[in-house]
Amino acid sequence: MSTALQRLQDLEPSTQEFRDAVLAGLSGIPKTLPCKFFYDAEGSRLFDQICELPEYYPTRTELKLLADKSAEIAGLIGRRARLVEFGSGAGVKIRLLLNALDRPAAYVPVDISRDHLMMAAADLARDFPALQIAPICADYTKPFALPAPASLHPEITVGFFPGSTIGNFTPAEARGFLARARRLLGPGSAMVVGVDLRKDAAILVPAYDDAAGVTAAFNLNLLVRINRELDGTFDLEQFTHEARWNDAEGRIEMHLVSRRDQEVRVGSARFAFRAGETIHTENSHKYTLDQFRALAVEAGYRPRAAWTDAAGLFSVHMLDA
Ligand code: AVJ
Repeated sequence: MSTALQRLQDLEPSTQEFRDAVLAGLSGIPKTLPCKFFYDAEGSRLFDQICELPEYYPTRTELKLLADKSAEIAGLIGRRARLVEFGSGAGVKIRLLLNALDRPAAYVPVDISRDHLMMAAADLARDFPALQIAPICADYTKPFALPAPASLHPEITVGFFPGSTIGNFTPAEARGFLARARRLLGPGSAMVVGVDLRKDAAILVPAYDDAAGVTAAFNLNLLVRINRELDGTFDLEQFTHEARWNDAEGRIEMHLVSRRDQEVRVGSARFAFRAGETIHTENSHKYTLDQFRALAVEAGYRPRAAWTDAAGLFSVHMLDA
C-alpha cells in the first residue's frame, strides 16, 4: 500500500450516540430519526445503488457537470490544493477534480462509515500515489480538526461537499455548517458545493421513491439497524416507505409510515404508533441558484462561480471563504 495513505483519525459515532439519538427522535412529536445513521455498511451499499437508478438524476447529473467543468474549476482552485471532502462515500466525484488539478497536495476524506471510507481511501492511494491521503471517520456535523499537512505544503485548502448532501440540513443548519466549515478550512480557502435545484414534484418524488424499491430498502434499513444494534423489535412488514414533496419548505421528505396501531421496543424503551403515523427520516432541500447564493453569503462566503447542467437540474457552486 502507498505510504501516502496516513493513519485513520477515528471519531466514528458510538453505539451510545446512536441509541441516544434514536430514543430522543422516537420520543418526539412528530417522531424523527437522523438521516446520518442511514450509512452503515448496508446503507452505504444501498445508497451507491440509488445513485445508479434511472429516477435518481442527481448523481449522474452532478458527475457529468463536474466532468464538463473540471478544467474550469481546477483553474479557479490553482496548484497544490488540499481537498477536504465532507461525506466522501465511494470517492468517485473527487477523482474528476484530482485528475484536473495541477499537482494536488493532499486529500482529507471525512465520512461517517468507517469501512466504506477506508476502502475508498485505499483505492485512491493506489491510483494517486503522489497524493497524501488523511482519512477521518467522523460525523462532520460535529467538531473535528484537520491534520497538519504532512510534508507537501498546500497552497490552498478547498472544501468539497458534493451530492447535494447540504440539502439534508435545514437552511439554518446549512448556514451553521457552512460557517463552521469556513473556520475549519481557514482563511483564503474555498468551498465547492453541489446543490440540487428546485423543480417539479413529478420529477422529485420518483427520484426518492423508485420503481425498483431501492430507496424504500434504504429507508427501512434504518429500522433493521436499530433492531440489530439497539435490540429493537421493528416489524419491517408493518412500516412502509413514503417520499413527500413539501412545497412550503422546498424539500423532499422521507417518512416511514406505520401500517397499523402497534408498539415497538428499543432496548427497554417502548414506543406506541398509531396507524398512519410516520417517522420522519430525511429532508432533502432543493434551492434556486439565488436562494443558495444568499444562504452562502449569510454564512460569510463570497460566491465565485456557479455551474448548472443544460436541463437546469443540478448546480455546483464555488464559494470563497
Ligand atoms: C446523499 C443526502 C444527497 O438527499 O438526495 C437519496 C440521500 N436519500 N435518496 C439525497 C438520499 C434518498 C441523498 N443525499
